[in-house]
Amino acid sequence: MSHIERLADLTLEEKASLTSGADFWTTKGVDRVGIPSVMLTDGPHGVRKQREGGDHLGLADSVPTTCFPPAVALGSSWDRELVRRVGVALGEEARAESVGVLLGPGINIKRSPLCGRNFEYFSEDPLVSGVMGSALVGGIQSQGVGASLKHFAANNQETDRLRVSADVDERPLREIYLRAFQRVVTEQQPWTVMCSYNRINGVYASEDPWLLTTVLRDEWGFDGLVVSDWGAVNDRVAGVAAGLDLEMPSNGGRTDAQLVAAVRAGELDEAHVTTAARRAIELVDRIVAGADSDATYDVDAHHALAREAAGRSIVLLRNEGDVLPLDPTGAGRVAVIGEFARTPRFQGAGSSLINPTRLDNALDEIRAVAGERVSFAPGFALAGAPDDATGVAAGDADALRADAVSTATGADVVVLFLGLPAEEESEGFDRTHIELPEEQTALLEAVLEVNRNVVVVLSNGGVVRTSGWQDRVPAIIEGWLLGQAGGGAVADVLFGSVNPSGRLTETVPIRLEDSPSHLTFPGEFGHVRYGEDIFVGYRGFDAKGTEVSFPFGHGLSYTTFSYGAVSILEHDGGIRATVDVTNAGSRDGREVVQVYTGVPGSRVARAPRSLSAFTVVEIAAGETVTVTVDVTHDDLAYFHPQVGKWTVEGGEYLVEVGASSRDIRRSATLTLAGDDLDVPLGTDSTVQEWFDHPRGGELLQAAIDSASGSVMSSMLADPETMKMLGSMPLERIASFPGSPLDADGLDALVSAANA
Ligand code: BGC
Repeated sequence: MSHIERLADLTLEEKASLTSGADFWTTKGVDRVGIPSVMLTDGPHGVRKQREGGDHLGLADSVPTTCFPPAVALGSSWDRELVRRVGVALGEEARAESVGVLLGPGINIKRSPLCGRNFEYFSEDPLVSGVMGSALVGGIQSQGVGASLKHFAANNQETDRLRVSADVDERPLREIYLRAFQRVVTEQQPWTVMCSYNRINGVYASEDPWLLTTVLRDEWGFDGLVVSDWGAVNDRVAGVAAGLDLEMPSNGGRTDAQLVAAVRAGELDEAHVTTAARRAIELVDRIVAGADSDATYDVDAHHALAREAAGRSIVLLRNEGDVLPLDPTGAGRVAVIGEFARTPRFQGAGSSLINPTRLDNALDEIRAVAGERVSFAPGFALAGAPDDATGVAAGDADALRADAVSTATGADVVVLFLGLPAEEESEGFDRTHIELPEEQTALLEAVLEVNRNVVVVLSNGGVVRTSGWQDRVPAIIEGWLLGQAGGGAVADVLFGSVNPSGRLTETVPIRLEDSPSHLTFPGEFGHVRYGEDIFVGYRGFDAKGTEVSFPFGHGLSYTTFSYGAVSILEHDGGIRATVDVTNAGSRDGREVVQVYTGVPGSRVARAPRSLSAFTVVEIAAGETVTVTVDVTHDDLAYFHPQVGKWTVEGGEYLVEVGASSRDIRRSATLTLAGDDLDVPLGTDSTVQEWFDHPRGGELLQAAIDSASGSVMSSMLADPETMKMLGSMPLERIASFPGSPLDADGLDALVSAANA
């Protein structure tokens, strides 16, 4: 049953009441005309439906649901199809819990490794973020449940997140920070978009008409509802006029009354309130149409999917001498060290905290494979860990380390679990460093003294520094935060029943200081200047030629892949790359084929390479697969701020195909004509800009030629002088003595050029 036709019957007060929450998680209905209330809950990697009396940050208990791998892990799969399946499962669980909108995914860019919420985001790259976000939204919404794409926009830090102004130029804003949102909105039409807390160039996202209406609706065609982040509303009246439809959570009707008063006082057009109410009712209609009070889901199947997804998210960073996989049937002694093996850190803290249906740990799963061969020592203490059976007091770091060293001594292999304790990273604050806790690095050193055959397994939501020790251990597994079935997935990778295929979606720097945003993160006095421009993440590391610990796109496999010659051609305004990839090893595996583009002679600032397309291919041992990857016209474009348009530059494109951003296997070049771009000319456009313009150049030349012999014509005819004068605004050079152009002549030239 549809409720939208009741809109016309509603009073102003009723319309206003539809545009803010009833409590933390539900909207207000209008009983008089039968419009029901609906529920929105977090998100993003599970359904966090709080039981009665729920508060905001999940301190209260929530209904058990499957805790899938958070975005930091899931994104490392680079696998649309897998991510979509997780989305479908999330949608099923939301529907079974009568949740109308799941508050996710979060697709903000990881501008700095320090952002406390990086575990909830996919990547430092907008293509990966957009593609993964799109797949998740598509999956969720296929189940008749809405997604909420968040946090729109430029919410790239937690420091001062409710007030800080992200001061970003338009190119990085469009090309890096909005691009993933644009992709998901245009591909999936999420039912809702959640505006962020922060300001952008001085304006709160929750009351920014440019962001919420011009860009989101007029340019991208968004037809859903904009909901505020919880508590993001600064000025409700300004917000509704700007395109904010729903304020969450409830504020007891206080700001609804402000809307009514503003309309009555003639300060707000009632049409804005009607529009917001209409979108609220349309959302209700979508939710009601998708609801199914009999819906259930298969808890075991979802746990199995969580394990599969976790296995595909793990990134094998290093594997010298093929120390991995371990032999599941061998006789060697396996020393498992580190409290994380027994007490997994499987998700991040804050609004996304899921109460899992069950929880695997790696220690039990390793024992399930290797049985009696496994011995364990916690090595260090973690809050919430069980009382230790080894008899070592949790508070005694020296004793814990000594016990671990004796466990490691003589073992055939040590699997050492290190990572960030929960209190070190969370929604709500940023980290100040990327170091592992000192007691853990001390443990690593102590273990290495008695046993060099160490496999480090990391558990962390944001990157940690590995330089200093990474070359001294034969193997490193980046296990991120893997969700409730991560323990099993780690065992699957350790023993080779899963061949790792995850790839880094963010760079692991040698030093925090190398990070491109380092000098301007997190800002001060209420402003953070995005001074690195478009050079975020690998774009910046590559542009500066900075060495890194592990590059963007990196990840090993238990097999090896070789690449044949790449052939490229222009296709549909973009580029089609075709390459043969061979699995040259003896195990089946998955390769993530990455296509980067660059324009070495570009007229605008460009990264040496930007990820422009990618695909995941499964290749059986010994087989060759022909992989075709399309870079779309839109993914080649940059944003021209003067013209206010995306445009593909004409010129020679370098197309690189590789296994990571620093493991380019094949490359080729292709010349593209590019889009016609009419940059309007003015009297203040430079001489060079005039000559580069499709009409302006000829017109200017004609004007100069008509006054042959003038100083100006001889100056511009000389290439050396032209080099120097090219950057001068035409009006300046025209005012030189002997110029053939007076003010009227200039104006006529401008009109003719722009006609
Ligand atoms: C977070 C959102 C979340 C909302 C509801 C906010 O603090 O930023 O991501 O969806 O709370 O819990």
